[in-house]
Amino acid sequence: MATTVKPFIQPSQAPAPRSKSGTDLIRIQGGQPLHGTIEISGAKNSALILMCAALLTEDTMRFTNMPTSLRDILTLTKVLESLGATVATGPEGTMAIQARHITSTKADYDLVKEMRASFLVMGPLLARFKEATVSMPGGCAIGTRPIDFHLMGFEAMGATVTLEDGYMRVCAPHGLKGADITFPRVSVGATENILMAAVLAAGITRIFNAACEPEIVDLGRCLIAMGAQIEGLGTSTITITGVPSLHGALHQVVADRIETGTYMIAAAMAGGQIRLKQASTEHLQALIAPLQAAGVTITQDDSDIIVERSGPLLQGTTITTEVHPGFPTDLQAQFMALLTQCQGGGQITETIWENRFMHVPEMARMGAKITIEGNTATIKGPQALTGAKVMATDLRASAALVLAGLVATGTTTVDRVYHLDRGYENLEQKLKACGARIERIPAETP
Ligand code: UD1
Repeated sequence: MATTVKPFIQPSQAPAPRSKSGTDLIRIQGGQPLHGTIEISGAKNSALILMCAALLTEDTMRFTNMPTSLRDILTLTKVLESLGATVATGPEGTMAIQARHITSTKADYDLVKEMRASFLVMGPLLARFKEATVSMPGGCAIGTRPIDFHLMGFEAMGATVTLEDGYMRVCAPHGLKGADITFPRVSVGATENILMAAVLAAGITRIFNAACEPEIVDLGRCLIAMGAQIEGLGTSTITITGVPSLHGALHQVVADRIETGTYMIAAAMAGGQIRLKQASTEHLQALIAPLQAAGVTITQDDSDIIVERSGPLLQGTTITTEVHPGFPTDLQAQFMALLTQCQGGGQITETIWENRFMHVPEMARMGAKITIEGNTATIKGPQALTGAKVMATDLRASAALVLAGLVATGTTTVDRVYHLDRGYENLEQKLKACGARIERIPAETP
């Protein structure tokens, strides 16, 4: 007999809320444990840079495991198309990029302002076309996000840098030359931009104090498959021997460790058992240790991870965000949601970004007790959370609010879900498939 699945909130009980921002909402009824399987997508932070790397060759680049429905991927697609590249997506995360006929080396303000990662077209364009003009990425909700290290690296390789009408123009009419570049502090973006420029530069480039993030290693592996010569990936010194040209390649995007970590925390908070498919614990040790200390069992099972919590959540902990392999800043907000439920709460110090506690006032609206002093947040726990209307302020903050909603009593409504859509594919469907009572309420179409 066919059964009808009723929405978890009957219309008579709660009239459908409307987003104040005119965008989609996510509504969660907390209190359900999670049981089921979640397919982990390709890493957003890898995928975006790999798409930029496709500018380095005339040949077609083919990718698998691309998180093609993410808003950030769609934004970068527009950027690449504005330069003359063609981007074609196929089923199941396949993507082909053809950048043979580049018609412009200028990335426009209207597109770059949407997403800072667009600035990463600069290295490949400069390397292949000897010039690039990219709008200054501007500030961002989580901090000022400067680009001085990127520009310092290009200058060291012989480029001239000028600021014209809000656009940063880099130019190397005689081509880039290999150089020794030491970053004053570890920067993921600057390492990626310089790495992509150096693969086509004349001679040897050495990047000191390079970022070691798995997404950099993924980029490096793709560049090597395209014919680049790179040593030291995953260490703080990367050595690149420039080659005259690169060719097309097929590359599989690495699994998203931040998405993986977010669902690990979801299962830790809600309880139950979930299987994360095509995921690896390898790059998540900084998260796994405190989760285990809090009573969560995490097992790698071939290419899947099983996360289980059946007993009570135990003690919280103190973490500090750091460059890889330290605790990732992109899991800080989600971990804070977890600490509200742990014995003794915990403390979080954010060292990467100066303004990344914007989720705190929103969590406070749900009953969380969090105090901030400088760049340290002290979280009281365990603290019962109650559903509320909350506003997503940035990508990872929105995930944290959804996680808080999973354990809050009553209904939580998260507004400005477009932040979430930048970096999580089908989050509400993935959680719903595991028993969460969560749904998307589309914005009213005018
Ligand atoms: C950073 C994170 C990355 C995360 C992303 C989005 C680190 C090391 N990087 O990457 O994991 O996915 O944010 O949240 O954790 N800086 C400069 N000048 C520059 C470039 C950077 O001063 O030219 C500073 C930044 O202000 C920041 C730090 O270096 O304090 C790290 O920045 P960077 O790694 O470049 O940022 P993202 O690449 O955006």
